[in-house]
Amino acid sequence: MSTLLHIDSSPLYGRSVSRQLTGAFVTQWKSSHADGKVVYRDLNATQIPPVSAEWVGAAYTPEAARTLQQKELLTLSDSLVAELEQADEYIFGVPMHNFGVPSVLKLWIDQIARVGRTFSYGEGGPKGLIIGKKATFTIATGGIYDAQTQRASFNFVEPYLRSVFGFLGVKDATFLTAGGTSALNQGHDRNTFLAPHLQAVQTHAQTF
Ligand SMILES: Cc1cc2nc3c(=O)[nH]c(=O)nc-3n(C[C@H](O)[C@H](O)[C@H](O)COP(=O)(O)O)c2cc1C
Repeated sequence: MSTLLHIDSSPLYGRSVSRQLTGAFVTQWKSSHADGKVVYRDLNATQIPPVSAEWVGAAYTPEAARTLQQKELLTLSDSLVAELEQADEYIFGVPMHNFGVPSVLKLWIDQIARVGRTFSYGEGGPKGLIIGKKATFTIATGGIYDAQTQRASFNFVEPYLRSVFGFLGVKDATFLTAGGTSALNQGHDRNTFLAPHLQAVQTHAQTF
């Protein structure tokens, strides 16, 4: 039985393009994984504090030597890491905010990037410990940042996610971007705009 971890990070809910695309992915995935399990993590409904000095101290203390207080500090991080470890596949909905990922996603990444749990330092340098997973990122951006366009270098979403997940060991990553969603605020028909993106997501989900 496969497990899919579904993570959304747009605050816009019903108006969100990235949430609609992850929804389409999950529907398609469920239809081809009748006995599959979907674990949902809505980052806009999860309270994630920024990391503190105490948190860093706890994370870098070997597990066997942690105090009760340090263990408690890592409880949320432990459960978020467990969700990653227990899933076989991931689908992320990511809106571009200020050329990067939304702050709730960055807070989540700070919780799951854990030395000794999701990456380690060895003789050969850092090593990702989240291996054998397949990740899909559906990204929505107001403007267009395709390669060769003037604003391509402003896109810190895909390069960042590719780097951080690659660092953690997730090498099998697909990025599907719906660029130019600002057209929807200028009266562009939502269904017409979304049709090719929904098609791309469904086609990709069928390969799972
Ligand atoms: C706080 C905020 C910051 C944004 N920053 C950018 C940006 O830097 N570049 C851009 O092209 N669009 C930006 N947008 C537009 C979003 O990327 C766009 O609305 C996209 O559809 C968001 O995904 P969603 O529909 O899933 O929420 C921003 C939107 C918000 C709400």
